Amino acid sequence: MGNKIAIVGSGTMGSGIAQAALSSNYNVVVIAHSEQGKIDGSKRINAVFEKAVAAKAITAQEKEACIKNLQISTDYAAISDAELVIEAVSEIKEVKESVLKQIEAHIGNSTVIATNTSSIPISALSGALSAPSRFIGMHFFNPVPVMKVAEVINGASTSTETINKAKEFIESLGKIPVQVKDSPGFIANRLLMLFINEAATALDEGVSSKEGIDAIVKLGLHHPMGPFELADFIGIDVCNDIMLEIYKDKNDMRFKPSNSITTLVKEGKLGRKSMEGFYKY
Ligand SMILES: NC(=O)c1ccc[n+]([C@@H]2O[C@H](COP(=O)([O-])OP(=O)(O)OC[C@H]3O[C@@H](n4cnc5c(N)ncnc54)[C@H](O)[C@@H]3O)[C@@H](O)[C@H]2O)c1
Repeated sequence: MGNKIAIVGSGTMGSGIAQAALSSNYNVVVIAHSEQGKIDGSKRINAVFEKAVAAKAITAQEKEACIKNLQISTDYAAISDAELVIEAVSEIKEVKESVLKQIEAHIGNSTVIATNTSSIPISALSGALSAPSRFIGMHFFNPVPVMKVAEVINGASTSTETINKAKEFIESLGKIPVQVKDSPGFIANRLLMLFINEAATALDEGVSSKEGIDAIVKLGLHHPMGPFELADFIGIDVCNDIMLEIYKDKNDMRFKPSNSITTLVKEGKLGRKSMEGFYKY
């Protein structure tokens, strides 16, 4: 993999992947959706570096050296010489398809295109591209700089060369790539969304309070976060979109978002990023 990579999307994951790649000495260009997206993305990336400086994990000089390799733009022309482009926009198939078409129109023939989708099958998204052999799923976990694994998902047309390049990139970030079969939700979200949705259904049924359910899961099952804390951390809208994608693809009612999740999305209570979700921040 060459030294320049691009990320489309400056939200939670786009910023996280950018920060991890900058820390591994890549030149990184982030394509934001708007001028505000540029400002927000830049703030997010800076904040993670600031935390690392405060924790004495890196020096202020090392932070500056990384940040100077970052470019944030709204113009796709900036991705033309990237060797890898990672799509990290909202979990909506039509949005991703339109972004993938834009990416393909602006890159060279050997560039690998990856998607950070949490749930949409790679073979379903690859229809948007004219050369799907260079397209792959690269599912990072949140927060990217901390989590040590990424799912690698090959579509029906993904080439072995593309798979190898994707694994090599993930390893270069100090993470372990795990290859999983193309299937709605892959492994992580197939398990996790069922768990969060069942917790929300139990809450809707009045079986326990959100604090009670989170305490049982943390203290009894030894998870680091309860399902509601985690849903707020991921983003309630992101959880809702992922559940809907898996529900549609598998036609499995267990993934139909529970009432409390649907209501929070309607009210714009999207979790930590909007200062309120299941909890207030
Ligand atoms: N949040 C998580 O914990 C998590 C974990 C792993 C994977 N993912 C996946 O990563 C992707 C992004 O999720 P996120 O949590 O960063 O969401 P987010 O809502 O924080 O960010 C999405 C970003 O996409 C941008 N966007 C929307 N349409 C766009 C377009 N047409 N062009 C350019 N940018 C556009 C938005 O402006 C926003 O900045 C999704 O596919 C999600 O499923 C999320």
